[in-house]
Amino acid sequence: MQTLFIGKNIIFLPETESTNSYASDLLKNVNLPEGTLVHTAHQTRGRGQRGSVWKSDPASNLTVSILLKPTFLELKNHFFLYQILALACHDTLAQQLNNSQIDIKIKWPNDLLVDRRKIAGILIENNITHGRINWCVAGIGLNVNQLLFPSDLNATSLQLAAGHEFVLGSVMASLCEHLERYYLLLRSGRLEDIRQLYLSRLLGLGAWMPFEQSGVVHDLFVEGVSEEGRLRLRRRSGEVNDVDVKEVRWIF
Ligand code: BTN
Repeated sequence: MQTLFIGKNIIFLPETESTNSYASDLLKNVNLPEGTLVHTAHQTRGRGQRGSVWKSDPASNLTVSILLKPTFLELKNHFFLYQILALACHDTLAQQLNNSQIDIKIKWPNDLLVDRRKIAGILIENNITHGRINWCVAGIGLNVNQLLFPSDLNATSLQLAAGHEFVLGSVMASLCEHLERYYLLLRSGRLEDIRQLYLSRLLGLGAWMPFEQSGVVHDLFVEGVSEEGRLRLRRRSGEVNDVDVKEVRWIF
């Protein structure tokens, strides 16, 4: 893989409960180098956002966690970590699929959709001391060769989208390369560039989209994302609100 530090130190586990849990536990005792990648062929208790479960067929998909040490990043800018992870996944999918007919979008805050179906999810866990992010375990679940998903998940995989099998190792290398590129951009302070790239790949930007809020479905206009990472939505009345993930649910 063509990287300087992301994925240079690899820990492979034939089976583990969760690569994020494994990496976080290991960090309590060992000072791992930045960029260390933990991956497993079979994740038995994968964790998703907001306490959900991430299920993945054995040896079919990417279930990886990458250690970052963004001590240069002010805590108020922590949403940039979500943005670079989502961008890295986006560009990996675009590179692998290499087909302009396939629609690849980031669904705020950091789900990846291919033709409006979820293909990847990101779970970031930060260790914060003295107001700085000491380390961050960025967990990525990316569906690669799995062909069957429960219908209520509205999920897909690279193989379902492209009609052929993918080599897990190449998808992983591509992910590491894209992530390193975006991480170096973040480290060099190019925050506005990252923000613009993230917005350009965001589902629904500049459009009226249906959202459920307190049990009622409304069409709301997606204005953008606030500095803290809240979704900026405008009502028909003109009122603008920044909301977090607990306040609204996308319907699409
Ligand atoms: C989501 O809910 O969309 C986030 C899913 C994140 C899943 C990945 S798989 C590798 C890493 N280990 C975990 O337990 N979760 C993340």
